Amino acid sequence: MVLLSKKEKITGEFYDPIMIRFDKRSNVRWILSHILAHKGLIFSFIGLSIVALAMNTINPIIAGEIFNVIEVKDWTRVKFLAFILLALTIVSGILRFIAGLIIEIASQRLERDIRDEYYASMLSKSMTFHDEVKAGDVMARATFDTRMVNFLINPCISLLSQAVIGILMAIAGMFYITPYWHGIPLLLLIPIVIAPPIFFLAKKYFKSVGPISMEIQQSYSDLSAYLQEKLLGITVVKAFARENYERSIFKEKNDILSDQIITRGQLRAKYYPALIVGISVGLALIYGVFLTQIGIFDLGRVYSYVRLVANLFFPVWTFSWALVLTQMGLAGAKRIVAILTKDTIISKPKKPIVLKALKGEIEFRDVSFSYDGKIKVIENVSFKVSPGQRVAIVGPAGSGKTTLMKLLTRLYDVDSGQILIDGVDIRNLDFETLRKNIGMIEQDIILFSGTVKQNIAYGQPNAKNEEIIRAAKMAQAHEFISQFDKGYNTIVGERGMTLSGGQKQRIAIARMLLIDPKILIFDDATSSVDSHTEDQIQRAINRVLKNRTSFVITHRLSTIRHSDLIIVMKKGRIVAKGTHEELLKTSIDYWRVFARYSDIREKFVQPTMVAREE
Ligand SMILES: Nc1ncnc2c1ncn2[C@@H]1O[C@H](COP(=O)(O)OP(=O)(O)OP(=O)(O)O)[C@@H](O)[C@H]1O
Ligand SMILES: [Mg+2]
Repeated sequence: MVLLSKKEKITGEFYDPIMIRFDKRSNVRWILSHILAHKGLIFSFIGLSIVALAMNTINPIIAGEIFNVIEVKDWTRVKFLAFILLALTIVSGILRFIAGLIIEIASQRLERDIRDEYYASMLSKSMTFHDEVKAGDVMARATFDTRMVNFLINPCISLLSQAVIGILMAIAGMFYITPYWHGIPLLLLIPIVIAPPIFFLAKKYFKSVGPISMEIQQSYSDLSAYLQEKLLGITVVKAFARENYERSIFKEKNDILSDQIITRGQLRAKYYPALIVGISVGLALIYGVFLTQIGIFDLGRVYSYVRLVANLFFPVWTFSWALVLTQMGLAGAKRIVAILTKDTIISKPKKPIVLKALKGEIEFRDVSFSYDGKIKVIENVSFKVSPGQRVAIVGPAGSGKTTLMKLLTRLYDVDSGQILIDGVDIRNLDFETLRKNIGMIEQDIILFSGTVKQNIAYGQPNAKNEEIIRAAKMAQAHEFISQFDKGYNTIVGERGMTLSGGQKQRIAIARMLLIDPKILIFDDATSSVDSHTEDQIQRAINRVLKNRTSFVITHRLSTIRHSDLIIVMKKGRIVAKGTHEELLKTSIDYWRVFARYSDIREKFVQPTMVAREE
């Protein structure tokens, strides 16, 4: 795990102060810094608990005293003591209630902070990070593990601090009523005998339950990652009739998780210290009666003593539960910190250059790149584009076309070489300048759940209705949107599931038009649409490309043909560049790409296509 220095932390693509508020140098420091953020609440909780538990300790002593007073039939004193007993019980009950409320507030705020910190951190991570992790796993950490860390405050801290205070108070109470023998406080003998085996068991338990907690959380993550992936790909599962198979895989994972939880439950049961508590109370009773017999104790105090011993060992019961939760909380913290500190950020320039009016001149200088540090996906690519030019990128699948464009938007950083916009290395450009001036219509279009309108206005949330409609019209999307019952207020499902590929693409074009970028990238995946839609998209593209430096990755002959520059890619390298006419004469690779299209098109669509172009 790579831990970030303070300086590095604030240099990502996205920055929020919460990202450096907490100490991430280790899991424990991280939790502590979160807990200390709510120290006011936690200290008030501890203060109230001390008072409430002190009352709880005085209680049995008074009750014992009442027994003794009943024996001598001093009824006024009995009434007085009974009244005090009642008052103490009520007040301590109220204090406990307030303390419980306070600790609950603290723990919920802590969980909220963690979620905020986590999400901000996710937004600041580079694409490399998001390529590597599974969304379901990241989500499990954001929900399940943050909940576990929440448990560290409530009930862990609350139980543990109350246990410690309770134990101290009970011991103090024993000191108060104990008879002495040669200076030895006799009542403390029983706790002293019983304590070591309890600590021994607790330690063993803590050790055995820790690893299994980590495993449980990992299994939970696996399960949710699996579920997420299969639900998103449900059409594939159904299309291939793999429900039974997927069902059995899920069952397997689910069984593993439940077995682990049961194992942890067994461990807890095995070390459950009820027996010890029972034995110690029994011993206390016999011992107290014995002391009374030899004349140095009385019955009322025997009663107080037995209750104090119960008070002393009752926290031990809660300890076991608190220990499980502590382990889970620590495991959760470890998993969250591991993600928070994963060192995959695209670093922000030290002195970012802000360009007000971009011209749109672009140059790639000997650029190489690899996703995994091994296989070069882009190799020694150089080319230059003047402002306003239209560039077409062609080449076989997997030749690196999309990757080349991801480098231009700096979703990934080049390994070597330089990419310049208006003569400035993009690594020195301010992120806002860069991303706001480059619009990308991606190959796999992603829409968010929400209305059509919200999706179009995603990059420009303050856009007026007319602006949205104008953008939609230019993108040739207005027509089909108007045909929906609710028009622009139609809800598109998660990832735009309810729209067709061609519809999604035009919404994405409208979304991009609204931010009106100077440089435009159009990664076209829908080349096989009906001729009416093709027409419309073609018209939209032509309109969209005007007055911008643009890159089009496409199989559409008409678009390729009218480009100022055509770049032919093959296995990450540029094998040819030039205009259509030049390349037809000089490049076999272009011929190949082109011949493949024209082969098909000559037979089927070439005549219409040519007609349309003219
Ligand atoms: N996120 C990623 N992580 C690792 N490797 C990747 C990633 N994206 C793409 N690749 C690899 O990089 C190479 C180039 O991919 P790229 O998407 O740039 O190709 P392309 O030319 O756009 O192909 P297509 O025409 O099919 O869209 C491929 O070999 C692909 O396997
Ligand atoms: Mg691609």
